[in-house]
Amino acid sequence: MYKIAVAGTGYVGLVAGVTFAEVGHQVACVDIDEEKVKVMKSGVSPIYEEGLEKLMQKNYAAGKLDYTTDYKTAYKDVDAIFIGVGTPEQADGSANLSYIATVARQIAETIENDCLVVVKSTVPIGTNDKVEQFIQDFLVHDVRVEVASNPEFLAQGSAVHDTLHAARIIIGAESKWAEDRLMSIYEPFKLPIVSVNRRSAEMIKYASNDFLALKISYMNDIANLCELVGADVQDVAKGMSFDERIGSKFLNAGIGFGGSCFPKDTKALENLARQNGYDLKTVKAAIDVNKGQKTLLYKKASKRLITFSGLKVAVLGLTFKPGTDDLREAASLENIPLLLEQGADIYAFDPVGAKNFEKVHPEGPNGKGTITYVSNVEQALQDANVCFVFTEWEEVKKVTPKKYKNLMRTPLVYDGRNIHDVLEMEKAGVEYHSVGRPS
Ligand code: UGA
Repeated sequence: MYKIAVAGTGYVGLVAGVTFAEVGHQVACVDIDEEKVKVMKSGVSPIYEEGLEKLMQKNYAAGKLDYTTDYKTAYKDVDAIFIGVGTPEQADGSANLSYIATVARQIAETIENDCLVVVKSTVPIGTNDKVEQFIQDFLVHDVRVEVASNPEFLAQGSAVHDTLHAARIIIGAESKWAEDRLMSIYEPFKLPIVSVNRRSAEMIKYASNDFLALKISYMNDIANLCELVGADVQDVAKGMSFDERIGSKFLNAGIGFGGSCFPKDTKALENLARQNGYDLKTVKAAIDVNKGQKTLLYKKASKRLITFSGLKVAVLGLTFKPGTDDLREAASLENIPLLLEQGADIYAFDPVGAKNFEKVHPEGPNGKGTITYVSNVEQALQDANVCFVFTEWEEVKKVTPKKYKNLMRTPLVYDGRNIHDVLEMEKAGVEYHSVGRPS
């Protein structure tokens, strides 16, 4: 059992802290936000993640997990400090490392024991070297401190499961001491461990995320071509998936990738390459395809309808994917302002994301149009002139062709997630447009 502190209680930090406690370590989760700490202490998760709240309550009650704003006490005598703070994208596409620097300085000024500092946040290659130097420069007590890289591969919506059943743990350490300590912290997880040097570990994270982003953009590119030549991208993906070298995952064409990771990490790697005088053409292409993909259906609908002004527009799904309330880089954020600008009256349904969306676009008159948040798909579809599907929530997948036909004023559906059967929609009398499939 190790004594561990985790800096930052976002997706990465909180899930790491909670799962470390779950496998038996003694964990203190540190955040600067007092209100958030209070909420977590009361057993409530600040993020929507299946299974997380239960583990928070269980391990907090067992005394294995605590939350605090007092970093000095939390860092003072721990065996390891995991950094899981954000690295938001800056205007030029590079990662903002100021949160990491703040934590590094706090660590340097506080630790009184030998301590392994582990960076879980996604950081540009070489950052861990700098963090280690930075900590050494500001170190107050005479203790051994090293930095290791341990990138995180969890996906939002399945974060707890992804962490407890990760495909692999990546350890990037520069000494046997650091490698051994991190390996034994992860020993209770009983997962495959890949141990490499720090820079390779940092690169594994970017290379993995950008490869997946590339896979999606490739399928979207193929989807757009399928439409032009009369092929069906879902059948194409199915045919491809039997080849184990290609695999069956992340072949879904649609409205493009969103979220806090793929958009940010593709831009960050492209930016890093540029800084090093290298033109990372493949990743650039993935970014480019994704940009066009997000408003593809809006553009198609704009051509089909003369105007959105005064039309009732049903929007099904607001988040960047199901299973999360996160809206970052979601297709809805690009399309809804365009619809409002045209004077559309939007009726939006999302089982968990509506509250967050309302902060950006409050209910009522909004620009030239209006937006109303409804609590079920039926209310959104009732008398609608057109419907957009942006997120494949179960509630949306369950909508039958008949329901679109019966509820909508004009059964015209633009589906950015390819969730319905083309022939069944046609049979029910719904005019159905999706991505890379015949309409
Ligand atoms: C992603 C990676 O999947 C995680 O492995 C990684 O740890 C994480 O980023 C991170 O760096 O923190 P996440 O952004 O939560 O996880 O979500 P994904 O499930 O990967 O989906 C990203 C986007 O791609 C979503 O908008 C989704 O709808 C889209 N997508 C995914 C597709 O359009 N097609 C697909 O076939 C799969």
